[in-house]
Amino acid sequence: MARRRQLYEGKAKILFEGPEPGTLVQYFKDDATAFNAQKKGVITGKGVLNNRISEFIMLRLHEIGVPTHFVRRLNMREQLIREVEIIPLEVVVRNVAAGSLSTRLGIAEGTPLPRSIVEYYYKNDALGDPLVAEEHITAFGWASVQDLDDIMALSLRINDFLTGLFLGVGIRLVDFKLEFGRLWENDEMRIVVADEISPDSCRLWDIKTGEKLDKDRFRRDLGRVEEAYQEVARRLGILPEAGARDLKGPETMQ
Ligand code: TMP
Repeated sequence: MARRRQLYEGKAKILFEGPEPGTLVQYFKDDATAFNAQKKGVITGKGVLNNRISEFIMLRLHEIGVPTHFVRRLNMREQLIREVEIIPLEVVVRNVAAGSLSTRLGIAEGTPLPRSIVEYYYKNDALGDPLVAEEHITAFGWASVQDLDDIMALSLRINDFLTGLFLGVGIRLVDFKLEFGRLWENDEMRIVVADEISPDSCRLWDIKTGEKLDKDRFRRDLGRVEEAYQEVARRLGILPEAGARDLKGPETMQ
């Protein structure tokens, strides 16, 4: 395949020009970073698994009417996506205290939250993605009040759906990060889910043992990082033990 023109290289992905106007190719790397790239490493096979896991989740979201940038998977490490104008926010939805919420507010990791909490972080590496309020977002024009209404409604809907999806395979969805983009069709603008949804961007704990099945294994040097990503894929039915390439539906756990 002829090499496509590279448009952007991020920490875990590369974006290439797509085959048609308005499309891009999203390439998933094995590179992993944490703490604003102060910690760097490689998780062998991560790109292949995240490509698959994110495809699976975006397709399930599409089925329930949540619009996403995903078009189709192209190969092991690449997927075709729609080109969107990325809203410079990381939207974090939390169900259980962990990570920066625990550190910032002194709430023990694992404490269930009284209700789901949605937080916004301004996507800016130089500033270390600071937590921001709606006031900052609308005052500085990163998103409008209407955009935020859509983002909040979509985030909570996605949280409800993914909580159930992961629960069905014995996984507790502790928290996760979403990104959104603006997609124009004729004169109409829609907010759609962009980027990826994978163990890089979610905290996933085994429901029975509490074992971490996500990027915290890398961030916190817990070992068995590759195995955790494989386990998530396996439970979602994406990576059958036999290694068959056909997608199966998720297995149900009692
Ligand atoms: P946090 O507790 O470190 O703020 O992370 C909340 C969630 O967001 C967690 O599921 C991991 C995810 N996340 C990202 O996807 N990218 C990031 O850069 C960070 C800091 C967190």
